Amino acid sequence: MLAEVAPEASRRAPRAAAKATAHRLSEVEAHTIVRLPVALGEFARVLGGGIVPGSVVLIAGDPGIGKSTLLLQIALTLAEDRRVLYVSAEEAERQVKARALRLVPTGQAAPELYLLSETDLDTILEQIDQLTPDLVIVDSIQAVSLQELEGGAGTITQVRECAARLVAAAKASGAAVFLVGHVTKEGAIAGPRVLEHMVDTVLYLEGDQFHAYRLLRAVKNRFGATSEVGVFEMRTTGLVEVPNPSEVFLAERAVNAPGSAVAVTIQGARPLLVEVQGLSSPSSFGHPRRTANGVDLNRLLLTVAVLQRRVGLHLAEQDVFVNVVGGLRIDEPGVDLAVAAALASSARDRAIAADVALIGEIGLSGEVRSVPQLEARLREASRLGFRRVLVPWSLGGEVQTPPGLTLLPAHTLREALALLELTAAARSTSNP
Ligand code: TYD
Ligand code: MG
Repeated sequence: MLAEVAPEASRRAPRAAAKATAHRLSEVEAHTIVRLPVALGEFARVLGGGIVPGSVVLIAGDPGIGKSTLLLQIALTLAEDRRVLYVSAEEAERQVKARALRLVPTGQAAPELYLLSETDLDTILEQIDQLTPDLVIVDSIQAVSLQELEGGAGTITQVRECAARLVAAAKASGAAVFLVGHVTKEGAIAGPRVLEHMVDTVLYLEGDQFHAYRLLRAVKNRFGATSEVGVFEMRTTGLVEVPNPSEVFLAERAVNAPGSAVAVTIQGARPLLVEVQGLSSPSSFGHPRRTANGVDLNRLLLTVAVLQRRVGLHLAEQDVFVNVVGGLRIDEPGVDLAVAAALASSARDRAIAADVALIGEIGLSGEVRSVPQLEARLREASRLGFRRVLVPWSLGGEVQTPPGLTLLPAHTLREALALLELTAAARSTSNP
């Protein structure tokens, strides 16, 4: 039977009843998504523009990183005119209230914000039914459970089944659902990983305990770009957007210090300048150490090997440390050249000129490879006052250089280091 089934109904109807027919792409009606507005622009950007009704978003991160704070802030602003149900399964209503007072010191409560301190999922689902909220926040998915299942809250079975019911509730009611997931240190057994395929969007809130900066990173997004990043600073009054992250991350840069290089990276769609620090020092044990903070360790190992084999830098008996300042994690190969230059600068004990920024991936034969979005990177470097940028010889397409900026193209890492006067030869000529 080829009954015409409305798309909405077909999605919910049991399998046996819904016999799907294929449609020409041209005949399928496009529908525009009307998103709920999010006052925090950085958060909205990472989501892809706002909250999609009926979508399920997982917000994962280490305990104490600021997940509850961020979501309560979202809830407080959205609940000015949309109904929000904040389910706190870990804290009493009073604790949430105390946090809300910290975030909105006037104590002016958002009129449509409902708090529910509850761990029983059936009760939570009933409340969703009754209140018909636009947004439901479940903090956290590891703390809620279904009585009918064996095992306590936080087990894989519970976490999965509870999430599945909440996904179904979101699709059926059109309420958006935010799930908080703690990244569990012990191998992430019942952590956010098991949920990633069930939800529409996965965001990670990152940062480290020594820095106030927090990065919100989209690793999966059915409604927006992945690898989009929002930058926040944790203050006493909650998370504050950082609109010019490059400026912040370069603010404490050690100018004219050996071992410091500025990389122009791309995070999502946005260029970001960061300071990369390198240090090499003679190792006291037989086995030299390689430590990467904020960059991928495997890429560091590759860079060190290329510095040894293709440039002749002696690092075999040296401990090597690389650090991205500000607690940032850069997992983009465009940072390679800055890592290599920072290490060479440290090993040679010569500073890199303060007006130079670096862009480029390094290949195994020591070649400097082109990177995506070079033009956007150059604009950001220019905006922050850099005058010269080391770039791959092949720019990877037509590139407009911002006025006042000089490109220093290099084929190889060796050439790049020569341009920075960091090769052994450069040193001996300037320092006879
Ligand atoms: P929290 O949101 O509770 O973390 P999570 O839900 O991810 O476990 O916040 C963690 C830390 O943030 C906590 O140590 C206190 C701090 N904090 C601030 O610095 N400023 C604030 O305004 C708030 C609410 C918390
Ligand atoms: Mg919390």
